[in-house]
Amino acid sequence: MHFPLPTALPGCVLRPWRAADKQELVAQANNRKVWRNMTHTFPHPYTPEDADLWLAIGANPGASLQLAIEVDGGVAGGIGAIAGEGIFQATAQFGYWLGETHWGRGIASAAARALADRIGAEGLFARLEAQVFEWNAPSMRVLEKAGFGRDAMLRCAATKDGRLIDTALYSRVFPH
Ligand SMILES: CC(C)(COP(=O)(O)OP(=O)(O)OC[C@H]1O[C@@H](n2cnc3c(N)ncnc32)[C@H](O)[C@@H]1OP(=O)(O)O)[C@@H](O)C(=O)NCCC(=O)NCCS
Repeated sequence: MHFPLPTALPGCVLRPWRAADKQELVAQANNRKVWRNMTHTFPHPYTPEDADLWLAIGANPGASLQLAIEVDGGVAGGIGAIAGEGIFQATAQFGYWLGETHWGRGIASAAARALADRIGAEGLFARLEAQVFEWNAPSMRVLEKAGFGRDAMLRCAATKDGRLIDTALYSRVFPH
C-alpha cells in the first residue's frame, strides 16, 4: 500500500517501511512527548535496536497494516492497523504517531482519514478501534476528523507515565 495524502499536503505519503528508514525513525520516535501518548509497545528511549525490531515487523506485517508517514522524502511518523485474532479477526487496532516537528499541520488527520477510508473501501476490516489517553485531546480530534465516533470512556483502563488513567474508546465501522 502506497499513496499520497491530499494535495493540500504536498510531499506527504503513506508507504511501507524500509530498512533504510532506521536512522530517521529513531530521530523522530525518540521523544518522551510521543512515548507518553503511546501504548507500552512503543519504547523510550527509542534505540536503534528498537528501530530494527520495528522495521522487521514492518517488513512482515501479516494481516496487519504498518506504514511510514513520509514528509518531503523523510520519515515523519507511522500509522497502522493491527489485526485482531480469532473472533476479532475483523477488528483492527488503529494507531499513529508523528515526530514533534511535524505536529500541527493536519498531517495526522489526513493520514488517519486516508488510511481508514482505504481500509473501508478495500473491505480489509469491519471495525477499526483506538483507545486514546484522557489527556490526548489532539488525537481524539484526529479520530473524529477521520470518521471515528466515541463508543465509551473506559474508566481507570490504563497505567501510563505513573498514573492510572481513563481512556476514550473510538471506533469506525464498515458493516457489510
Ligand atoms: C496526536 C498527533 C498524532 C496529532 O498529530 P497532528 O498532525 O499534529 O494533528 P493534526 O494537525 O492533524 O490535528 C490535530 C487536531 O487537534 C486539535 N488540537 C490540538 N490541540 C488541541 C487541544 N489541546 N484540545 C483540542 N484539540 C486540539 C487541532 O486544532 C487539530 O484539529 P483541527 O484540525 O480541527 O484544528 C501528534 O500530536 C502525535 O503524534 N502525538 C504523539 C503520539 C500520539 O498521540 N499518537 C496517538 C495515540 S492515540
